[in-house]
Amino acid sequence: MYFPVYLQERERMALSQAEVVKQSIQEVRRSLPVFPYREDLLLAIQQHQILIIEGETGSGKTTQIPQYLMESGYNEGGMKIGCTQPRRVAAMSVAARVAQEVGVKLGNEVGYSIRFEDCTSERTVLKYMTDGMLLREFLTEPDLASYSVVIIDEAHERTLHTDILFGLIKDIARFRPDLKVLVASATLDTERFSCFFDDAPVFRIPGRRFPVDIFYTKAPEADYLEACVVSVLQIHVTQPPGDCLVFLTGQEEIETCCELLQERCRRLGSKISELLVLPIYANLPSDMQAKIFSPTPPGSRKVVVATNIAETSLTIDGIIYVIDPGFCKQKSYNARTGMESLIVTPCSRASANQRAGRAGRVAAGKCFRLYTAWAFKHEMEETTVPEIQRTNLGNVVLLLKSLGINDLIHFDFMDPPPHETLVLALEQLYALGALNHLGELTKLGRRMAELPVDPMLSKMILASEQYKCSEQVLTIAAMLSVNNSIFYRPKDKVVHADNARQNFVVPGGDHMVDCLLFLFFKSNFRWCYENFIQFRSMKRARDVREQLEGLMDRIEVEVCSSEGDSVPIRKVAGYFYHTARLSKGGYKTVKHQQTVYVHPNSSLFEEQPRWLIYHELVFTTKEFMRQVCINANSSWLLEVAPHYYKNKELEDSSSKKMPRKQGKAKEELG
Ligand code: CDP
Ligand code: MG
Repeated sequence: MYFPVYLQERERMALSQAEVVKQSIQEVRRSLPVFPYREDLLLAIQQHQILIIEGETGSGKTTQIPQYLMESGYNEGGMKIGCTQPRRVAAMSVAARVAQEVGVKLGNEVGYSIRFEDCTSERTVLKYMTDGMLLREFLTEPDLASYSVVIIDEAHERTLHTDILFGLIKDIARFRPDLKVLVASATLDTERFSCFFDDAPVFRIPGRRFPVDIFYTKAPEADYLEACVVSVLQIHVTQPPGDCLVFLTGQEEIETCCELLQERCRRLGSKISELLVLPIYANLPSDMQAKIFSPTPPGSRKVVVATNIAETSLTIDGIIYVIDPGFCKQKSYNARTGMESLIVTPCSRASANQRAGRAGRVAAGKCFRLYTAWAFKHEMEETTVPEIQRTNLGNVVLLLKSLGINDLIHFDFMDPPPHETLVLALEQLYALGALNHLGELTKLGRRMAELPVDPMLSKMILASEQYKCSEQVLTIAAMLSVNNSIFYRPKDKVVHADNARQNFVVPGGDHMVDCLLFLFFKSNFRWCYENFIQFRSMKRARDVREQLEGLMDRIEVEVCSSEGDSVPIRKVAGYFYHTARLSKGGYKTVKHQQTVYVHPNSSLFEEQPRWLIYHELVFTTKEFMRQVCINANSSWLLEVAPHYYKNKELEDSSSKKMPRKQGKAKEELG
């Protein structure tokens, strides 16, 4: 008798629950600081072609404004709305969020595009993408004709690609009066953006920010990683509920920190309440990325350990405590020697303040700075130097040349790069054969620009045809693009992991190891697990390789194999100006005589061959060469780059002193 009533009840409940979910998304949208300004903002966009939008991080710029544009018909007539992000993780996660808010499947109406991964379709009208991807779109669509609105988001980050976009978009806006340009930024630098875009108006979204108490350490911390771990546990034990955000510099540090935290929590067992430890960094797979946004269950605390991606690109709700060691990983470039290195450096005061701000979004918060107040005042720079002034410009110069922009000195830069950097980029492109002696793009250069990789890598791929080893070189290029995350080295199994790694040491160096690993991989999860190899990284390398292989047709390179002969591969390893020679205590780069060392993770760490080619330099405790391979002798260099090296530079003064090593190199060649 009661049965129908019961059913009805249940039905009503189910319905109301569905409604709650739907409502809450709309409610959340309406609660964001940008919402009250929706109409004013749309009006301003209607009235001005270029608008600068300034708003506190988390106010809804990235997720809401593109939706407002869709809702008011900017996508009519099949036009697209594009929104750039400096970071791939942000592009992916924001697109996923917005797809959910709009109620569509990611990749349909709302999608994203990042290098080597296109999650869009014919139906996509709102496209989140990295700034680098929009830059590449200029190659196929120089006036961005399919876009009605372009949003340059996170403009304050001033990445190289964003800065170049500024110049290009300002230019096309002149002859595309129908194109709307929005430049969105955190509360930094907006006057400068306005000034650059011919005094475009600034639309300010007043933020909501609760006070944040800032604590400094009394003395500098010797080990900031350990200090982070201890601080998190202290907060967890002594402070009221609220989630915690820790800023570290990269994947390795983040993983170590997470492992340490988990281990100590295990040891404390039931003495403490649950602590959810979640990492976030660029290479983290998307399902793991999504976890940082899920609400913290009652009675527990969430700690997110992040790179500076969480500084402004991503907003995690519920953060009350921020731990800031005051460092970030930065590219730096020596325009005299052409050396690019990744260095852990103190972050700027502007960065530190953004980080602290993350603690005050939902309630009054606390920020623990693991450095002294004195260091904050005297040792940190005011702002971060724009990337364009501290990076190699080879890639961008090649792209601009391909777009027909020949006069780079007079390109409309917001902050021009150092003159020497520009000259060096031109020189290197000339050395690679991408430019002729007049600085004009060659046919080779045009083909190189088609590949979404660095000029040296694209040259290597193109040169592999001549040496009949494009199969292997494609693999190497793909593996290099996921580099550094292939081997897995858990703290409690270091010996096993290192032994497993030893099994893959083959003559020739790390590039040959890469080829071997890829050959064995065959999408076999078990094999990866048993050999301490990261399945995801290998899978990504496979995807990247597929994409690159797909481009071979377009650049007319025949895919063929060297059948196990490593000599041609090492010759084209293409990095002929990344050459180093063994010298007392370490290596010296050939062109600039800079002292460098083989990275301890390299398969050649113990061997110390006389000549090496390296993929990149990283500075941690010393200047390390990462991903190295043996360049058997100097005659190879004269063969592959006769225009770049002179016999004299390569004369081997030390040859008599090290007969053993020479013998070894010969053996390998034989
Ligand atoms: O761009 P802006 O910093 O102004 O804010 P936003 O990224 O649009 O974030 C607005 C809101 O969306 C915040 O409350 C975020 O927590 C939320 N959000 C989210 O839940 N998941 C994401 N993947 C991105 C944003
Ligand atoms: Mg944003």
